[in-house]
Amino acid sequence: MYEMKEEYYTGIQLIDDEHKELFRIADEAYQVLKDEFIADKFDNIVKIITNLKEYAIKHFSDEEAYMQSIHYKKLLSHKVEHIDFIEKLNTYDFEQMDHNQAAALLGLLEFLNDWLVHHILEKDKLIGNS
Ligand SMILES: [Fe+2]
Ligand SMILES: [Fe+2]
Repeated sequence: MYEMKEEYYTGIQLIDDEHKELFRIADEAYQVLKDEFIADKFDNIVKIITNLKEYAIKHFSDEEAYMQSIHYKKLLSHKVEHIDFIEKLNTYDFEQMDHNQAAALLGLLEFLNDWLVHHILEKDKLIGNS
């Protein structure tokens, strides 16, 4: 469901590999949402969001280092989107999510699908074209 598609590739190996991992984490969230045999998904939700945040921080730092290394002109505005992403994850309230776990997972997936795809297609791909 959530996976790298042909059009997401930037042509920069490190960035593409890290994007694959971000989609893998998104897919994990989708699998947990679908799994009817997990009665209480709270631990999964906490684990996924924690992993996602940690990996996104690493990815953004690698991507920004790459942009810096090629003296990429739009580094600053690009960085702002990365900061917004982490800030959004920081607003997640686990206690609130526990009350409606399916809605929490759906909300996370919607955000990820929207943000990841748009950011990769509209911002990250420009790095590969510069
Ligand atoms: Fe980016
Ligand atoms: Fe990226």
